[in-house]
Amino acid sequence: MPELDCLSLSPIIYAVLCLAWKGGPDLVTIGAMSRAREEFAPELLAVALYKGESPRDLGEDAAGVVSGGDFGGKAGETALLYGQGGPAPRLLLVGLGERDLFTMEKLRCAAATVARRARALGLQTAAFSLPALPDNAVREIARTVAEGARLGLYRFDRHKSAADDQDLETFWLVADEGELDEATEGAELGAKVAEGTVLARDLANEPSNVATPEYLAQRARNISEKYGMELAVLDRAGIEEEGLTGLATVGRSASNEPYFIALEHRRGGDSAPIVLIGKAVTFDSGGISIKPSAGMEDMKFDMSGGAAVLGTMEAAGALDLPLNIVALVPATENLPGGDAFKPGDVLQMHSGKTVEIVTTDAEGRLILADALSYARRYEPSAVVDCATLTGACAVALGDHASGLMGNEEDLVAELKTAGETTEERAWPLPLFGEYTEQIKGDTADIKNSGGRRGGALTAGAFLKEFADYPWAHLDVAGTAYGKKGNACTTKGATGVPARLLIEFLLGRTR
Ligand code: BES
Ligand code: MN
Ligand code: ZN
Repeated sequence: MPELDCLSLSPIIYAVLCLAWKGGPDLVTIGAMSRAREEFAPELLAVALYKGESPRDLGEDAAGVVSGGDFGGKAGETALLYGQGGPAPRLLLVGLGERDLFTMEKLRCAAATVARRARALGLQTAAFSLPALPDNAVREIARTVAEGARLGLYRFDRHKSAADDQDLETFWLVADEGELDEATEGAELGAKVAEGTVLARDLANEPSNVATPEYLAQRARNISEKYGMELAVLDRAGIEEEGLTGLATVGRSASNEPYFIALEHRRGGDSAPIVLIGKAVTFDSGGISIKPSAGMEDMKFDMSGGAAVLGTMEAAGALDLPLNIVALVPATENLPGGDAFKPGDVLQMHSGKTVEIVTTDAEGRLILADALSYARRYEPSAVVDCATLTGACAVALGDHASGLMGNEEDLVAELKTAGETTEERAWPLPLFGEYTEQIKGDTADIKNSGGRRGGALTAGAFLKEFADYPWAHLDVAGTAYGKKGNACTTKGATGVPARLLIEFLLGRTR
């Protein structure tokens, strides 16, 4: 395999400073901890405010923009002031919205807004004063701010000849003296979670002529070498030998070879592993059941599940999670060709079950089914797959939640909670027996499509046939990429569900 350049992950150097307020806007450093060992001299200091609340101790000008009505504290709103004294020449007020409606996502977005604004101003350094929130420990607050800053600064510009504005170099988190260690811990956690998400975004944003199955295998190799993980990569011959018929069949007509990637993080002693499976169709044309050409360019994102799983492994390595985690990423293109599989074909899958092909555009479930039955050998405690699996799921839940299905209530609840915590929401959908009835085969055991009605659920029911352990499925067709960004995302890949999966894993360490 050729060596590939690493994508540049623009680093955000964060530091946690301990400051005391002393007489209005004059901030006096009592002690400083800095990974970069720099002086605390940010070009901008940001302070978050709730809607309708006046700033305390920030001086007359800041009080004036609020009382004058120029800054109301709505979520995402900002006001920039100059010459305030204190440690920074600029003071940026950023809104958190109503106090009673506060969520950590609002704080994450406020941090993202601040970081972006600082970059747009051409600054290299900015600081964010961590707000005191009654229900949240400073560790979580610092984590959220670090995450937000890094995610807000994310952009995918490596294919542009001229760079946009320069990257921010340092983002300081300002904490109270007694909370320094906790804040530092939280900031480090947030930065690592964000880097995993950034990797997921980068992989998914890459066009399919760059992010080929082989490229994904190489990126998995980078992760394995960085963190000392085990890696097994099966090429076309290996895939056939292993009997991964679904993957071999979908990948048969593509000249970019399919790969089956198995990456293992073993830090959990002899505990049963958690297996994460990510669909990585690097381009989904639909195959012989070809898709309409309008919007087909979005099908480069059809490897977002695999990208999120690799991003999760990057974070698991960086955090050195005390768990056994296996990532399985079946990677292939889905293209028409003289050698392509066809509607009506019957496959005998890795598990032994037979599948009748109704449409070659329902390819994701074929490669996932093989990964699911491959996962049995690990005797896993839980298996979670994630995939841009059905347009039907995107229709049902829109951009705002991933579809969540599974065969065990507790696991589904665990993932739903992880989705709430990270605001990468996932919503439970049913897997009634009737959906399984709907995919009963005419000439084989099951068929790969149950038609349009309940499309997300019949896809889930299909996968369920291959999972004989606690299993859950995340359909991220509507959430993994977007037509427009928000404070924390740009147009294109969102990295979903990397943060959800990392949170799920963190939960398993507690
Ligand atoms: N990758 C698509 C699903 C998809 C569609 C993701 C739109 C994101 C946006 C998947 O392989 C697919 O084509 N699914 C079909 C299944 C159908 C033919 C049973 C679909 O959803 O139309
Ligand atoms: Mn498809
Ligand atoms: Zn697909």
